[in-house]
Amino acid sequence: MDVAIIGAGRLAKAIRDQCVARGATATLHSRSTGFDVLDPEPADRLGAPHVVVEATDVFTQNANRARQFFSRSTRAANAVARAHGARHVLVSIVGCTRPELQGNGYYAGKAEQERIALAEHERLTIVRSTQWHEFARQNLDRMRLGPLAVVPSMTVQPVALASVADVVARCVTGELPEGIHDVAGPEVTTLWEMTKALPGTGALPVALPVPGRTGKAFRHGALLPGPDAEILGPTFGEWLMAGA
Ligand SMILES: NC(=O)c1ccc[n+]([C@@H]2O[C@H](COP(=O)([O-])OP(=O)(O)OC[C@H]3O[C@@H](n4cnc5c(N)ncnc54)[C@H](OP(=O)(O)O)[C@@H]3O)[C@@H](O)[C@H]2O)c1
Repeated sequence: MDVAIIGAGRLAKAIRDQCVARGATATLHSRSTGFDVLDPEPADRLGAPHVVVEATDVFTQNANRARQFFSRSTRAANAVARAHGARHVLVSIVGCTRPELQGNGYYAGKAEQERIALAEHERLTIVRSTQWHEFARQNLDRMRLGPLAVVPSMTVQPVALASVADVVARCVTGELPEGIHDVAGPEVTTLWEMTKALPGTGALPVALPVPGRTGKAFRHGALLPGPDAEILGPTFGEWLMAGA
């Protein structure tokens, strides 16, 4: 099985490794390899894959920018998949389509990505994950202001990136059926608690209750999974203990 993964970041690499461990051939494609989803007609240098995995990302809170990036990303992935009669597996976020989260530009972009992907491809699988254990440090790095780091108040049920990659790889190989798969970790916590537990950050965290309807939704569980989500360990504490 040939798998073309669009994106070459943390998740994309973990998905590649899990696919290879299952006997597939998997390649990463992004701007660094000459494949830009924002090109009007992205060069089709992805071989003839059986499955196209979409794991691109942009860091922005601007709704227009996020919508534009994620809609073009999913159209590009879809075009490659259709050209080769391949399946399309998209990585998304639990809760991103909830109306109360659309005030957040990034989530509005992910919701648009899902809408377009669902409308344009019949052989689509969406793996929606909760925030990763890795997200706590990623947030600190992104939200640094000198010695301080801003931590938005969020109730979360985090999951290890490696566990998400495992679910995506099972979707790729057909161990899981086409459709929508939600995946989450075992425990409900807050981004604040996760941040406080991180070793060696060198930053003083400052809690930021995000104002408005979206901020309230962040605090009151809009990012938590429903009852059908697959729950996968390790817990955040176990993950930290393992030195991940
Ligand atoms: N962080 C979380 O907790 C979390 C939770 C749930 C879901 N997710 C989702 O997981 C996905 C992957 O996130 P990640 O953290 O692995 O991302 P990442 O490490 O930031 O990697 C993003 C990748 O996108 C590629 N990319 C960016 N612009 C591109 C373009 N114009 N054309 C082609 N490729 C482009 C980049 O490669 P180049 O720079 O080489 O182009 C990069 O390899 C995202 O969609 C995110 O929403 C994240």
